[in-house]
Amino acid sequence: MSERLEDIAIAMVADGKGLLAADESTSTIKKRFDTIGLESTETSRRDYREMLFRADEAMKKYISGVILFEETLFQKAADGTPFVDLIKAAGSIPGIKVDVGAKPMAAFPGETITEGLDGMRERLANYYKAGARFAKWRGVIAIADGLPTWGSIKANSQALARYAALCQEAGIVPIVEPEVLMDGAPGTHDIARCAEVTEWVLRTVFTDLYDARVKLEGMILKPNMVIDGKNARKASIEQVAAETVRVLKATVPSAVPGIAFLSGGQSTEEATAHLSAMNSGYDLPWKLTYSYGRALQDTALKAWAGRSENVAAGQRAFTHRSRMNSLAATGAWKQDLEKAA
Ligand code: 13P
Repeated sequence: MSERLEDIAIAMVADGKGLLAADESTSTIKKRFDTIGLESTETSRRDYREMLFRADEAMKKYISGVILFEETLFQKAADGTPFVDLIKAAGSIPGIKVDVGAKPMAAFPGETITEGLDGMRERLANYYKAGARFAKWRGVIAIADGLPTWGSIKANSQALARYAALCQEAGIVPIVEPEVLMDGAPGTHDIARCAEVTEWVLRTVFTDLYDARVKLEGMILKPNMVIDGKNARKASIEQVAAETVRVLKATVPSAVPGIAFLSGGQSTEEATAHLSAMNSGYDLPWKLTYSYGRALQDTALKAWAGRSENVAAGQRAFTHRSRMNSLAATGAWKQDLEKAA
């Protein structure tokens, strides 16, 4: 496979394929495991991710790349096969989360700044050696009374741009993820407010990427959809699709090869329906696909429930969700396909 950034980025958003975000930090995966009453240990985390990465049909047909947490990038399956080799054998690309988390931002109550730039050049070199060909950094923007502030948008945007430039220097495609939260507190904003904030954020991010000399052809954008807050969900599928496409067209240059959405707390089926609506009704200059965490994993996690006898059931659930989202990535998903399964 060619190693040009442009080619890796194009492969990440290949027709009918998208990304599996399996990069939950140790504290986030613990929260997910708590929902099935499973203790989070290095072994249980390995078993869970091994179940996903060995779901052959899903990995080969629907998953272009997997975002990993650092532990997983260097981890081996139960039989000693490095996870990176399992992922590559399925024709999928290993990727790595490189930020170290969103931390409270000094002097900006209620807002965060994502950290992790110190020493990143050296870390990226190690990740590249381990097989990672793309990376992810997530900046978090909360909507609340009087929030977000310009100070937090600008600081997070500049960090994203510094990160992206370092990735490209290392031969790694940056996924640039500025997430305007739908499930932050209080989560009562309407879709118009989300549209306004998302547009402000994306405009700022692309200005900073330009100033940082980031090559747009060699990156992927991972945005939120334009949607109302989790505690005030009213907007229809068509409205979410229309507003999201409108804001993206106004802010994202067509040189960017692909946009891979986060699911952000949408239900699994909503995340699929919204993506399919965008891909069926609009003329788009970039690929629109998925980079879902919860929306690809929730049903698989429940079906598996931490038991080895449920591995096949977990894989079936993951394969089904992946196939539904693959159809959505080409605008071909229909609700009755869910029932058929
Ligand atoms: P969700 O799809 O669960 O929002 O996770 C995607 C992700 O990578 C968040 O950083």
